[in-house]
Amino acid sequence: MVRHAGRLHAWRNACPHIDGAPMAWRKDAYTNAAGTHIVCSAHGAQFEPATGRCVQGPCLGQALSAIEMDIRSDGSVWLRAH
Ligand code: FES
Repeated sequence: MVRHAGRLHAWRNACPHIDGAPMAWRKDAYTNAAGTHIVCSAHGAQFEPATGRCVQGPCLGQALSAIEMDIRSDGSVWLRAH
């Protein structure tokens, strides 16, 4: 899950370059140093946080898989099961 421009987005931790490849470069670390893009640690693909679209790297044009979520009135966030 990532907050970008004031909105939450939830993406499956699976890079589209290699089916199911986990992306974190260390525990719970998914973005570049500037926090502008989600990065896959395996081969450096970069993804837009709001759309999940790969904008640089070996899976250019592909996208992360979104996880549907509900944000309740009390501020809690619930991810929907698949
Ligand atoms: S597995 Fe993510 S860029 Fe290759």
